[in-house]
Amino acid sequence: MITIEYLKNYDEMSQYVATLVGKLIDVGTPLNLGTPTGGTPIGMYKKLVNTGLNWNNVHTFNLDEYVGIDKKHPQSYHKFMWDNLHAYVGLNPYKIHFPHLEYDMEIEALGGLDLTILGIGTNGHIAFNEPGSSFSSVTRIVNLSQQTIMDNSRFFDSINQVPTQAITMGLHTIMKSRQVILMGQGEKKLDILKRALWGMVTEDIPASILQYHPNLRVFYCD
Ligand code: PGA
Repeated sequence: MITIEYLKNYDEMSQYVATLVGKLIDVGTPLNLGTPTGGTPIGMYKKLVNTGLNWNNVHTFNLDEYVGIDKKHPQSYHKFMWDNLHAYVGLNPYKIHFPHLEYDMEIEALGGLDLTILGIGTNGHIAFNEPGSSFSSVTRIVNLSQQTIMDNSRFFDSINQVPTQAITMGLHTIMKSRQVILMGQGEKKLDILKRALWGMVTEDIPASILQYHPNLRVFYCD
């Protein structure tokens, strides 16, 4: 059975995951890293950029991006990644990847994802694969659920400004990653984590497909 590894607090969880990622980077062999956005991974990025790691061997592949806002928009995921990671680690622009309609082919051509780090939505989404997403989905444009629009409105001035569409890696794209780390913070995520990991595997809870992943670690803190 999958276990949820409980960390004492957000700082510890961020440090723990950053250390795991840092060790992989430190090996120095090519590393294709699936990189999340949102509130949960911010602490992990903070820890990672303060370690003096050499990122020359790393390519980053973002999980998703909004459709309909400019890359320079304060809430775009391009901007998020620049502010939280890319500005600090000196990655060559050609090693920074964002979703497009041939993303799966690009990922495969570059050797596949080695480690993908995920948060989870309160509705069980991973990346922007909302409830009802096919387990065989690849990178595509999706409509955001009302729940996600509400959850993400905290980052915008008003709910009307939250984009209604996004481009996201599919569930199949994520499942092909050789290793997956799932992070959840706060009581509002605990129930969905338990249902996703210990309940029925169903497209109604997209994260539940992770039960079939052969190399998954799950971290949670209050
Ligand atoms: P959060 O979002 O980290 O901002 O809570 C996670 C997600 O929606 O995947």
